[in-house]
Order: sequence, then C-alpha cells, then structure tokens
Amino acid sequence: MKTPVLCAVTAALAIGMTSAQAGDASAGETLYAEACAQCHGPKARGMASFPSLAGNDEEFIVSRLEQYRAGEKVGPNSGLMIPNAADLSDADIANLATYISTRFQ
Ligand code: HEC
Repeated sequence: MKTPVLCAVTAALAIGMTSAQAGDASAGETLYAEACAQCHGPKARGMASFPSLAGNDEEFIVSRLEQYRAGEKVGPNSGLMIPNAADLSDADIANLATYISTRFQ
C-alpha cells in the first residue's frame, strides 16, 4: 500500500526540479526592461560599446552572467557589466537567459 504514495512523491519532486531549472520568461522580461534594456537596448541589439545579446543561446547567457556575477573580466568593458550582474540570483539568471534567448533571435 505504500508504493503509490512513494510514486506520487517522486513525481511531484521531478516536476518541481524541472520547473526550477527552466527559466520563467515573463519574470525575465520584467527584469530585462528594468535592469538591462537601458544598455543592451529594448530589442537586445546593443549600441556603441554595449554588445548585442540577440541570437545567443541560453547556455551562453547563463555562463556569461555567472562570470560577471563572480566579478570575472571577460571583455574590455566588463567593468560596466559586473555591477549589473552582482545582485542576480540563480533564478534571475535562468529567467533572463530564457527570455533573451527565446525572444531575441
Ligand atoms: C551599464 C550598462 C549595462 C547594463 C545595465 C547591463 N549590461 Fe550587460 N553588458 C554591458 C557591457 C559594456 C558588456 C560588455 C562587457 C565586457 O566587455 O566584458 C555587457 C555584456 C553582457 C553580456 C555578454 C555578451 C557577450 O556577447 O559576451 C551579457 C549576456 C549581458 N551583458 C547581459 C546583461 C543583462 C541580462 C543585464 C540586465 C541584468 C545587463 N547585461 C545589464 C553593459 C551593461
């Protein structure tokens, strides 16, 4: 009689884990508009020394944001980007990466 209960718990855990990994694009959209669009542009096409983010895949965006959050210098203007990534949570990064990679091709 215990097996069905265990199965239900396992299934619920699996669903919980999946949704924690996939970013929430609408949360990403809100955060992008507030914190990123002023430099990277409303269409993520960049301008002047602010790089275009369009066309990058999710994995690339996550890894870059994690590097900047850790204070790593990856390009000539990392000093402008590092403070903007410093306060992002893992969920923020996942949400932003999902939004940017699916919305801006
Ligand atoms: C003050 C302007 C500014 C803001 C605000 C800003 N960025 Fe940036 N971002 C930059 C600059 C400048 C670079 C290039 C840094 C370098 O040379 O390493 C960059 C680089 C990046 C890169 C790497 C691009 C590549 O091709 O390597 C990503 C991804 C990124 N930003 C995402 C974001 C996100 C997401 C936000 C909002 C949370 C954000 N940025 C906010 C200025 C900004």
